[in-house]
Amino acid sequence: MGEEEKEKRERRVIEESVELLSEAAKRAPELKGVPTGVDGLDELFFTTKIVRKKPKKIPLGGYPSYAVINLTGVPDTGKSLMVEQFAVKQASMGHKVGFITVESPAAFVSTALKSRATAMGIDEKDIDENIVLIDAASYTALRDDIPTLLDTLAYAIKTYKIKFTIIDSVTGLYEAKEMLARSIVRRLFNFMKKWYQTALFVSQKRSGHEELSAEAAGGYAVSHIVDCTLVLSKKMIASRYDENLFGKPIGELVRLFRIDGCRLCGHDTDTHYLEITETGLVKIGPSLKDIRAKSYAK
Ligand SMILES: Nc1ncnc2c1ncn2[C@@H]1O[C@H](COP(=O)(O)OP(=O)(O)O)[C@@H](O)[C@H]1O
Ligand SMILES: [Mg+2]
Repeated sequence: MGEEEKEKRERRVIEESVELLSEAAKRAPELKGVPTGVDGLDELFFTTKIVRKKPKKIPLGGYPSYAVINLTGVPDTGKSLMVEQFAVKQASMGHKVGFITVESPAAFVSTALKSRATAMGIDEKDIDENIVLIDAASYTALRDDIPTLLDTLAYAIKTYKIKFTIIDSVTGLYEAKEMLARSIVRRLFNFMKKWYQTALFVSQKRSGHEELSAEAAGGYAVSHIVDCTLVLSKKMIASRYDENLFGKPIGELVRLFRIDGCRLCGHDTDTHYLEITETGLVKIGPSLKDIRAKSYAK
């Protein structure tokens, strides 16, 4: 900038952006646990309270409220099952859930949601009126134009008083334009914050990405922006080393789960077994550490 230009520029102070902690805190939502619908997962998030002058760990009982959570993994690791279980659980508790489906048309997702409900022992009548599907798989305009998608979602949120939003998957919104991943995820994230949504974003990893890392299509864009990242993976037991490490025989497939990070609350950091039951429900199992400790104790 030349001297002349510098003089021309008027001083501009955005006073509204400056405030005391006490003021900002008045708008801060309360941190609560939002039941995940996944056995073994609610217990892995916690918060800290001061009890008799000492910090004490208190279980949260679910995902941290108002968080934007990224679930990432290669295909067939249980990402869709996990977000469907969340939708069904919240709907069964009487909450309105917005489900943006990007890969599979709404009719197919409705079948999946109903079979998830059956497996969870929940009557489909208890979720029918509480899950709002937004079909970005069938309507290209929603997939190709983020402002249109967000206007449509804002309409759905206002109409149905939606508190929870799921996007399966955000990767589908920047297919063949991964360099836009960061800016698209940033807009989605800001939107969720503005509308006080607790949100789950599914993102896809390619096999080239290291199995248990938070990297997904578009690099680390998603995990840098969101509040929490959960990583799902699967692994074929292929060596004596694996056999020893995972306590399973060669040829068996093991699924693993890890909370990679969460900036809103405390969380477990171990790698856990993830099980998909015969009826198609994801369950979080014990940590590898606990299994090994037990096998040494024998
Ligand atoms: N209804 C079902 N019954 C039993 N197993 C299922 C069912 N649906 C999915 N699965 C199993 O769960 C795996 C993961 O499914 P999914 O959540 O769709 O994976 P992702 O979304 O990570 O690609 C599938 O590969 C399949 O083995
Ligand atoms: Mg899926």
